[in-house]
Amino acid sequence: MNDTGKRYIIAIDGPASSGKSTTAKMLANRLRYIYIDTGAMYRACGLAALEQGVSLNDEPALRELLQRIRIEIRYAGEGNRILLDGRDVSQRIREADITKLSSEIAVIGLVRERMVELQREMGAAGGVIMDGRDIGTVVFPGADFKFFMVADPNTRAQRRFLEMQGKGVSLEEIRSEMEWRDRNDSTRAIAPLKKADDAVEIDTSAMSIEEQVEWLLKYVEQT
Ligand code: C5P
Repeated sequence: MNDTGKRYIIAIDGPASSGKSTTAKMLANRLRYIYIDTGAMYRACGLAALEQGVSLNDEPALRELLQRIRIEIRYAGEGNRILLDGRDVSQRIREADITKLSSEIAVIGLVRERMVELQREMGAAGGVIMDGRDIGTVVFPGADFKFFMVADPNTRAQRRFLEMQGKGVSLEEIRSEMEWRDRNDSTRAIAPLKKADDAVEIDTSAMSIEEQVEWLLKYVEQT
């Protein structure tokens, strides 16, 4: 892989808690690539709409909001920091209300158009790993590598539960939120969550994070 020095675009898609973000982040560190968490961008949009009282049904107001807000991703070795108009919202966007809102706002065409535009700018130079739902299908259909990560729903709910510990959310609540989000993300009309025809599918149910990273790294280096 390093023979040509080419800096690839690597797309990683899949449902919530399938292992994408942690693996993408660690792989980016190993390859010295930039990691971009596109889910965080939809989350930041949802937060902006909520805070500024913009209804998701009000198309003109939403359009204006999208033109006005500044979403920045700061790449730090340990992950992304998300700034909304200069304010660090990395923690806030992980809360349950924003998780649901992100999936609701992500069905809206004009929101997706703006996010895809920003994502293409961020990834254009290559040397990037981008994770999300539509990276291999819509954002970078010509990506050098496409992975689609899946895991059984129990494993995913358990992983989410561990991440959310201390926040007063039960495993049952997490499971049902996840089922709702899977359905909403997979059945929407625009850019639904689905595996690109040429993506490599990895089931991470029985894999540790380290195994996932090694698997992907090997694949990229040997191809
Ligand atoms: O990846 P994460 O769970 O943070 O994503 C939050 C939500 O953002 C998803 O449930 C999905 O609705 C939306 N999303 C999307 N397209 C992406 C990334 C995320 O629609 N590329």
